[in-house]
Amino acid sequence: MLQVARIVGGRRLQGEVRAAGSKNACLPILAATLLTRDAVTLRNVPNLSDVQYMLEILQHQGAEVSQPAPGTWVVRAENVSHRTPYDLVRKMRASICLLGALVGRLRRCEIALPGGCIIGPRPIDLHLKGLARLGCDIRHDAGYVHVDASKARGEYVFLGGRMGSTVLGTANLVMAATLTPGTTRIDSAACEPEVVDLCNMLVRMGAHIEGIGSPSLSIEGVERLHGCEHSVIGDRIEAGTYLAAGAITDGDVTVRDIAVEHLGAFLDKLEESGVKIQTGKNFVRATGRPTKPIEVTTQPFPGFPTDLQAQIMALQLTVNGLTTVTERIYPNRFMHVPELQRMGAQIDIEGATAIIKGGRPLSGAPVMASDLRASAALILAGLAATGETWVQRLYHLDRGYEAFDARLTALGADIQRLPASQLPSGFGEE
Ligand code: EPU
Repeated sequence: MLQVARIVGGRRLQGEVRAAGSKNACLPILAATLLTRDAVTLRNVPNLSDVQYMLEILQHQGAEVSQPAPGTWVVRAENVSHRTPYDLVRKMRASICLLGALVGRLRRCEIALPGGCIIGPRPIDLHLKGLARLGCDIRHDAGYVHVDASKARGEYVFLGGRMGSTVLGTANLVMAATLTPGTTRIDSAACEPEVVDLCNMLVRMGAHIEGIGSPSLSIEGVERLHGCEHSVIGDRIEAGTYLAAGAITDGDVTVRDIAVEHLGAFLDKLEESGVKIQTGKNFVRATGRPTKPIEVTTQPFPGFPTDLQAQIMALQLTVNGLTTVTERIYPNRFMHVPELQRMGAQIDIEGATAIIKGGRPLSGAPVMASDLRASAALILAGLAATGETWVQRLYHLDRGYEAFDARLTALGADIQRLPASQLPSGFGEE
């Protein structure tokens, strides 16, 4: 059943919220369970539609999955199929992270190419370049990529691309290299905390990886990996979204169970804009609202994350003066802009830069979510707007935020999830 969110703006958010397990750490970690025949136990797994979907794909590949407790999943992949059909890949682009796991485990795979998505083209040329450098034979046929890794050996791979490093490309190459004979050295590897979490889990499975967290990784292939238990890191993007939600309402929000160092660039920008930040072991508290315009440029970690770009834009709409937001990861990731404009926002796009003339009043409106982070940004804007905001296509939000509306309600927001049939007439297509 399609659902919408109705937000009545003007409430101040206050209180504590716990960050759930990270979606973007969890997806490649789930794929990595295919690297062993043994059972792998994962804890702190968020309850998200993307995670459910990845579990279904693992089952399609032949794995058995069970959930002994909320947030804990056990995956056992005694037998694994080497083929992942288009039907599965097209629904979730991140399923491309099966590539490295299948190549590692089976020395071959056939996986449908994912194609682009709403935030822009999503090529996998670097993933394939990395595998080709290891000596994999790669063939394209009818929308599928066929990889034969029977002759693969460890090699030096420079994995940087036009936009810098690649997160899932690094994850794929690392997974493949763990079971490839010889030593694979990767330069310009992604340093995102989600990649670090995957590497830490692989080490628990018996992989030999050096340089974890740096752009230079060295992986010495082993003959087999074994089962392990692993707890997924807290979601820095979700945490940042709650802090922005607090700040947009001049509130006082504390996020717990989050590694503060994963949020460095984001917290730096919040502070620069005038929000008071307090940090401690595994928590961040944001008090007050932003008062100063800022310049934001998205970059690979440890730079400002593209996945918090839409949210900081919503936040800066409330600040007098010109804020600029430049996208260096996905230059067209501005689909939230026309929807924010429907709420009264003044934003001009020039190339990959959005120029935000902040301080104009926002007024509630029916708006359409186009992707995961855009949905969060629209809800944030709704918290600061006068009147009612109706956010449609809520399924985008549920891909990456666990019980977002319930958690905002607990912080004091006036937000309700309703069946789309309750949209006021003339408010939208749903
Ligand atoms: N790129 C290439 N060639 C490649 C791969 C990537 O040119 O072979 C380019 C991309 O087009 C992009 C840049 O490199 O311009 C970075 O893309 P990356 O490969 O790092 O993205 P990803 O691994 O596909 C993950 C997250 C995204 C997040 C990006 C960037 C997952 C499941 N997804 O995608 O998360 O935006 O890294 O940090 O981990 C989200 O959660 O909303 C989301 C989109």
